[in-house]
Amino acid sequence: MDYSKFDKMDISEIVDYVTATFHVPLDSLFKSAPDNISSLIKKYWKQYPKIVDLEKLFNEFKEKISEHMKKEDDVIFPAAIEYENINKDWKIDLTKITEENQEIINNTEMENDHEDFKKYLEDILELLKTCWMDGENISEFDEIKEDIKQIYDALVEHYDLEVRYLYPKWLELQEEIRKNIEVF
Ligand SMILES: [Fe+2]
Ligand SMILES: [Fe+2]
Repeated sequence: MDYSKFDKMDISEIVDYVTATFHVPLDSLFKSAPDNISSLIKKYWKQYPKIVDLEKLFNEFKEKISEHMKKEDDVIFPAAIEYENINKDWKIDLTKITEENQEIINNTEMENDHEDFKKYLEDILELLKTCWMDGENISEFDEIKEDIKQIYDALVEHYDLEVRYLYPKWLELQEEIRKNIEVF
């Protein structure tokens, strides 16, 4: 993946990209995946009892990442875009630079979440591998494994964008705005 194009992108463009390529597709996958997992379990739990854990792991992952994405969609991304607009229009509203905003961007909670989500997917892949290796080559296991791998790759790319581009750009903007305010 060539990341250089993101250097030139505005915050709002990065937000649009992250939303379209990751948040929206993941939401729609969450609508179909639970049914696929349930039918896999129903079919194979006697043969591979460990497969039952897949439901719990996947549901936990789904719940936690949905909460994280909701926080980004509802609070973090709009706040970052707001900063960009303040900077562009130069209509400074000091109330927009709240301590709450600074806390959101400065804390490492969102970044730690990313690591937790990767771990969930690694555990799911490990579980599928164990079931798959125990028995004959079952194509449904392979299909789910491929889906999870795709989510994993998309997840890593999207975290890179948030952590390496979106958040640093936002921090830079905050500093720039603050510097300009001090001049007045
Ligand atoms: Fe995100
Ligand atoms: Fe995130």
